[in-house]
Amino acid sequence: MKTGDIMNDLEFLKEEIKNKLDNYRYLHVISVYEECAKLADIFKLSKNQKHDLLISALLHDITKGYDKHGQIALAKELGITLKKDNLLSPKTLHAVTGEAYAKKYYPDLVKSNICRYIRYHTTGRANMSLGEKLLYLADYIEPTRKFDDCIQVRERFYGALSKGKSSFWSLDDAILFSLDLTLKQLIEENAVIHPDTVKSRNYLLRTIDYSSK
Ligand SMILES: [Fe+2]
Ligand SMILES: [Fe+2]
Repeated sequence: MKTGDIMNDLEFLKEEIKNKLDNYRYLHVISVYEECAKLADIFKLSKNQKHDLLISALLHDITKGYDKHGQIALAKELGITLKKDNLLSPKTLHAVTGEAYAKKYYPDLVKSNICRYIRYHTTGRANMSLGEKLLYLADYIEPTRKFDDCIQVRERFYGALSKGKSSFWSLDDAILFSLDLTLKQLIEENAVIHPDTVKSRNYLLRTIDYSSK
């Protein structure tokens, strides 16, 4: 389906996810969408960049409703092979199947950059693009998230902005902080850590400039 009209594309996808997701997940996705719209304005994205980010927001959890066995069956159906790293960190599976699902069912709307936003929204990765970072952050801090970690990251990001730090610095700082919290949580749960989470953290730690914050 391709209308070529930005509002129609987004309204069409909103209807799609309303039919496919349970209410709790639907409200989370709409909240990520609204957070992405806010971030797109803060980061002065072009109309097309904002459109891509909003499409990725609507589709990022499209397969989240499947449990591990469901994810494996869905991957088979979509013709993709799940890597061991993802199978060992089951919370990352929906990002992999979500990318493939979005590509298969909405090929006219989902370009390769949008695929990557969806693919890395859970783990991050080394050298993330701006769109990848914005979806990752929006997913973590959207206002319906009430977990302590989410509140802390939200306050860290908006707190840095309100102190006059640059938006790009604030984004990297908040993501790095969120990755540290995620890693601590995974260690506490005795859970396997996906290598991309570590790579994402190490990359930001090496590149963020704390001297000019
Ligand atoms: Fe997700
Ligand atoms: Fe999400």
